[in-house]
Amino acid sequence: MMIQTADSERLEQLMRAAREACRNAYAPYSNYPVGAAALFASGKIYAGCNVENASFGLTICAERNAIFQGAACGERRLLAVAIAVPASNHASPCGACRQVMREFAADCRIILLNDSDPPLESSLRDLLPDSFGPEFLQGK
Ligand code: THU
Repeated sequence: MMIQTADSERLEQLMRAAREACRNAYAPYSNYPVGAAALFASGKIYAGCNVENASFGLTICAERNAIFQGAACGERRLLAVAIAVPASNHASPCGACRQVMREFAADCRIILLNDSDPPLESSLRDLLPDSFGPEFLQGK
């Protein structure tokens, strides 16, 4: 499904922000740097990278880092997320990050980037079907 939310120039900026954020990845254990950028309904873009920890389970993924930056600035409606890796495959967002996206969007564009292939576009609804979201807790 194609979600009409942002003009192509804004999406270009989103992709650039994800690639730039990847350069700040702190990934000494996996050596798998990831950058992400989240576009919210305000039109603002927030970037994040993965930040690992010697206590491995404390690692935060790039996507959640970017989305939480937006949430901390008051953003509540997510439109699109770009995810960039320098690897030759595309990084599909992990299950935890998909669920965090779902908190701020019933559906959104997800654009996967690497250094060798054209961007690959998907959607949250495709990647997280039959999902559980905040509206399930309303009127309980
Ligand atoms: N990682 C992300 O940041 N996003 C993804 O979509 C996949 C995985 C990070 C977590 C960890 O720092 C490294 O990549 C290897 O799993």
